[in-house]
Amino acid sequence: MGLLRRLYYDAFSSFYDPFVRLHSKDKQEGLRGFLVARAKVPEGGLILDLCTGTGAVALAFAKARKEASIVVGLDFSMGMLRRAKAKALSLGLCNVALVQATARALPFKPGTFHAVTCSHAFYELNALEMAGMLKEARRVLRPGGRLFVMEYETPKKPVLRVLFAIRMLTVGWKGLHTLKDELTCFSASFEGVTKETSPSGDSKLIIATKQYYSFGNR
Ligand SMILES: C[S@@+](CC[C@H](N)C(=O)[O-])C[C@H]1O[C@@H](n2cnc3c(N)ncnc32)[C@H](O)[C@@H]1O
Repeated sequence: MGLLRRLYYDAFSSFYDPFVRLHSKDKQEGLRGFLVARAKVPEGGLILDLCTGTGAVALAFAKARKEASIVVGLDFSMGMLRRAKAKALSLGLCNVALVQATARALPFKPGTFHAVTCSHAFYELNALEMAGMLKEARRVLRPGGRLFVMEYETPKKPVLRVLFAIRMLTVGWKGLHTLKDELTCFSASFEGVTKETSPSGDSKLIIATKQYYSFGNR
């Protein structure tokens, strides 16, 4: 199953950027700008972008922070990472590292990152991967660090609503259950969870904080 999904994303990587441009026009730039602006990472901070794909968010951070921060883009698809690398090279960015790994077993020490992001990929994970990703994101964040997950809101137009529902079915029954009570699912791994709507109104940003002190068994 994991191998098939990876092969699917490898094949999709050739069309991913044109596909996103086609279906979202110029909205994606604005969305990424919103995410970068909300994640106030200190000078010299370390940022991890999970399921980075062709690197849209990782490269937006790298451009915005110049050499002041290091951004790591992680994905399990080599096809996607090759595209991200080509884009980073063409932009002359040298503060980006790209790592092939699964989001539910991160190859980093606990407390490494100031911020972890995941844009428009959480809904493509199955229930096991969702839970694993949240647990791992918490582990690799520093105390006080934040996880930013951006996803589409349920569309208002009936046709788009049906397509969205079909897409949601791919996360499986347990995944759907998780999404029904999304904020509770994030709260199982994080102490402070809030939700904001993007300026365009069609995406949401879930912000989950790893508090300095936790008294539970997380
Ligand atoms: C829809 S793309 C989103 C890409 C990017 N974040 C963006 O905003 O354009 C989903 C990405 O998640 C990656 N992915 C899916 N499941 C994954 C997993 N378990 N571990 C790591 N990457 C995964 C895919 O390879 C793909 O690149």
